[in-house]
Amino acid sequence: MEAVPFSTSTRLAVMTGAGISAESGVSTFRGKGGLWSKYNLYEVATPEAFARDPRMVWEFYNLRRAQLPTVEPNAAHHALARLEAAMPDGAFTLITQNVDDLHDRAGTKHVLHMHGELAKVRCTGCGTITETLDDLGPLPHCDSCGAMLRPHIVWFGEMPMFLDKIDVAVRDCHLFLAVGTSGTVYPAAGMLSLAKSCGARTVGINLDEPDNVDSIDHFFQGKAGELLPPLVDEWLSRL
Ligand code: APR
Repeated sequence: MEAVPFSTSTRLAVMTGAGISAESGVSTFRGKGGLWSKYNLYEVATPEAFARDPRMVWEFYNLRRAQLPTVEPNAAHHALARLEAAMPDGAFTLITQNVDDLHDRAGTKHVLHMHGELAKVRCTGCGTITETLDDLGPLPHCDSCGAMLRPHIVWFGEMPMFLDKIDVAVRDCHLFLAVGTSGTVYPAAGMLSLAKSCGARTVGINLDEPDNVDSIDHFFQGKAGELLPPLVDEWLSRL
């Protein structure tokens, strides 16, 4: 793997997508066997779909919630947790598009889940957010106000979360690493070129060439579980 500038003073921003969880058995969205080849996203992942048929939306998310306890973080998740632990406070920011909890379970402390979390639900009435993977049934309601609960997920057409913190980390980093994302969904896909325009060096690890590959200085094609651990170990050897 070609050398990537990394030192004790490096500030790193990492963006991960579904590809980093693929080796743990979690489906990606696009490409062969992706979720969007089996489900119509306009029927299960938009606020309009939830208004139209909340049962169908809950059925989709209940399946994915039920899978979470059956999968484990893989070597790529663990490599990032090791890197965070070895870097000075504030020098490592992990931004993920993933709604699974595998980064958190691998031990990464500061994970910005910009598209929400499967392990959380939100009340459409009082806004209470509850962390639970219990089977809540086909159409769960809030214990305190009785309104319907929805998955704490950012659907298409909704504003991602933590954009303020993310914007600071992306503009401030020396190195931006994108892992396992197709670079097709904005604003996430635009952060790589934003980092580059602010002077950062950019690195990408992906099975296929992502749509934003032109903004990547160092692109490594392959599986995250195979390519990320040696890259991280090489960086750790410089700390
Ligand atoms: N290692 C590295 N990359 C992989 C691996 C792997 N083992 N397996 C698949 N990939 C790559 C694929 O080549 C693909 O480019 O991961 C990428 C996954 O792309 P998508 O399925 O489009 O997932 P993602 O980029 O995370 O999607 C962005 O779209 O559907 C919405 O909200 C959803 O957060 C999601 C967003």
